[in-house]
Amino acid sequence: MVKPDAVQRGLIGNIITKMEEKGLRLIALKMIQIDEDTASEHYAEHEGKDFYEPLLEYITSGPVVALALKGNSAISIVRTLVGKTDPKEASPGTIRGDHGIDIGRNVVHAADSKESAERELDIFFDDNEYLDYSRVEEDWIYE
Ligand code: RTP
Ligand code: MG
Repeated sequence: MVKPDAVQRGLIGNIITKMEEKGLRLIALKMIQIDEDTASEHYAEHEGKDFYEPLLEYITSGPVVALALKGNSAISIVRTLVGKTDPKEASPGTIRGDHGIDIGRNVVHAADSKESAERELDIFFDDNEYLDYSRVEEDWIYE
């Protein structure tokens, strides 16, 4: 997910380009403003933590772009491209490493496991919103 700060900073294209260039297949995409209920469902695992309320405020503060990506090892690949949670510690070349400073403005969200990916995708997409196709490049990306 492209978070509200990244939308405001004009980074939507840049972030999606990184995913495309890596070889991941974009199978669903939507721009939305997340409401309070959806935000608390999405970040349920963090309820009660001291950053929880600011996190909800942040993620509901403006439009976001939700995307579903498909590919071999897609979840770990996306986490690697995104970088460490705290942009100050994220490596150069990662999205957070290149574009952020504060942990509470860390540019992107990415699911951290198959279970969380399935749970989160269900929040933002209906089954009929996933597109079934392949990219011509895929024969040259996978051996
Ligand atoms: P995300 O869920 O957004 O992809 O980030 P993540 O897995 O790398 O990090 P997570 O531990 O799930 O934290 C979710 C988001 O909460 C904010 N946060 N603030 N102030 C703090 O100590 C703190 N810790 C986390 C960040 O926006 C983080 O992405
Ligand atoms: Mg997380």
